[in-house]
Amino acid sequence: MKSKVRKAVFPAAGFGTRFLPATKAIPKEMLALVDKPIIQYGVEEALASGCEEIIIVTARGKSAIEDHFDISYELEASLEKRGKKELLQICRNVSNMVDLKYVRQKEAKGLGHAVLMAKDLVGNEPFAVILPDDVIDAPVPCLKQMIDTFDQVQGSILATMVIEGPAISAYGVLDGNALPGNPKVIEARGMVEKPKFEEAPSKNAIIGRYILTPAIFDLLEKITPGAGGELQLTDAIKGLLKTEKVYGLTFDGIRHDAGDKLGMLKATVDFALKRPDFGPPFREYLKSLSI
Ligand code: UTP
Repeated sequence: MKSKVRKAVFPAAGFGTRFLPATKAIPKEMLALVDKPIIQYGVEEALASGCEEIIIVTARGKSAIEDHFDISYELEASLEKRGKKELLQICRNVSNMVDLKYVRQKEAKGLGHAVLMAKDLVGNEPFAVILPDDVIDAPVPCLKQMIDTFDQVQGSILATMVIEGPAISAYGVLDGNALPGNPKVIEARGMVEKPKFEEAPSKNAIIGRYILTPAIFDLLEKITPGAGGELQLTDAIKGLLKTEKVYGLTFDGIRHDAGDKLGMLKATVDFALKRPDFGPPFREYLKSLSI
């Protein structure tokens, strides 16, 4: 019987140092992209892709995430009293979205360690991992594209995008060959974390969306600190390659690194321009700038 991807894990326990000082007291995942915290984009993507359970890996100082997805009685009562129906609906949509589960990562030991914290909540089934600071604007949700591919190949899937030039050195890079007749799906042979430009095995950079089989958990328990002294998810995925097939999927869509200041600015412009309520005046404003 084919396995189904029902659960999505959101590692959200990192320090967000690239966004200091904003992230000193506010979780990076709660930074607003236009008018929604970046983690909400990821949760909406997971739900639109058919996931039924959302698991968030949190840490000390991250309670704003739990509050955001919870009911806010005082705020709702106040909005109701003042007849602010639209705003009330916006708030209720968030708290009604889904029941979220939370698990703590006591120490930020790396992405691999954060995913391992979700082991008991995931159990013995394939699951998705969404890095909330990668916000993806896509005609079909990126995770849905990955789940459709998983349904065909029944193996772990990593979202990849083509990066031209030396910028590839900032990513994990996939080594492998496209499946016959399906150039967007690459069967992985290996992967290299942040290679030098000349040594990159391909232009296929791995970004923050994964579908993993539960075999990853045993491997995560065994890995030792890798790049940056952190327990790296990619090291465990390399181990997975020895026993299972792993694929890269070049998804259709645009990925924004909203955990980075410049990435967030670009995402803000793109998303704001698409807004029917204030996109047109914002476009006029941008045109008026003498740059
Ligand atoms: P990042 O490296 O982008 O996040 O990890 P970070 O460490 O918070 O940010 P910088 O680099 O210092 O600015 C990707 C995701 O993995 C989570 C982060 O919260 C982020 O959503 N993460 C990272 C954890 O949950 N635990 C960790 O130990 C590390």
